[in-house]
Parts: sequence; structure tokens; C-alpha cells
Amino acid sequence: MPKTSEAALRRMEKAARDAGARSYSPYSHFPVGAAVIAGSGRIYSGCNVENASFGLCNCAERTAIFSAVAAGERSVKAVAVYTPTALPTAPCGACRQVIHEFGPEAIVISVCDSKSRITTHLSALLPGAFGPGDLA
Ligand code: THU
Repeated sequence: MPKTSEAALRRMEKAARDAGARSYSPYSHFPVGAAVIAGSGRIYSGCNVENASFGLCNCAERTAIFSAVAAGERSVKAVAVYTPTALPTAPCGACRQVIHEFGPEAIVISVCDSKSRITTHLSALLPGAFGPGDLA
């Protein structure tokens, strides 16, 4: 897979920050934005979408990935998550599993309200993951 350019990664981060402004989070008051660079190179974004039935809340990362898949994408090269925090936060366990389905080697970048950031890979966040190959 060709290396994703720094410029594309920065565009993805901005899309994640912008998506945070569209968060529907009346219960947690914790607006999160995410964006992915899909296999085509296109960027898809998403926000957390909460529900009065709390267990149905959907994280920003999954909204962004599901949006990409619904548009026809089948792979994810990079993921960015923005949280309104002083320190960056990593995707939750459920989102790591969903990222693994489409981007087992994805770059994962967390950004926040300070200059602090985390740049890592899905394989470091979810070692030994269960995935499509395990169903054979
Ligand atoms: N949330 C995300 O959207 N992404 C994460 O990586 C962590 C948590 C959302 C879920 C819920 O709407 C709110 O943040 C508080 O947990």
C-alpha cells in the first residue's frame, strides 16, 4: 500500500476536528469527531451520535468508517480522532475492532485542543486481533 502523504494526514485531521462540531452528544457533553482516509484516498468524517437509550450511542470513529463503507469503500488507510481534551485520547476497544476489519495496518492519529498528539498504528492498539481471516 503506498505511503499516505503528510498533507493527506493533515487534511484528515482537520476533517476530524470539523466533524466534532456536528456531534450529537446531549448526554455525555463530550463531542468527538473522526475522519478516515479510505482506500480510494477519499476522506470520510463522522461524529459521535448518542441516544436516550445510552447503549445505542455510536462513537465518531465508527460513524466515519460506516460512512466510508456505505459509500463503497472497503479499506481504511488512516484514522484521526479529535476529542475536546487537553490530552489526546485513543479510540475505544469497540472502535479498535471495527478499524481492524477495514484497516488492520491503519495509522491512527489522536488530536485534541492542545498541540499534544498520538500517532500510532492499529496493530499496536489491538495486538493479536480477531479478524476476517479467523473465520476461515
Ligand atoms: N466516544 C467517541 O466517539 N470516540 C471515542 O474514541 C471515545 C468515546 C464518544 C462515545 C460517547 O458518545 C462519548 O464519547 C462519551 O464516551
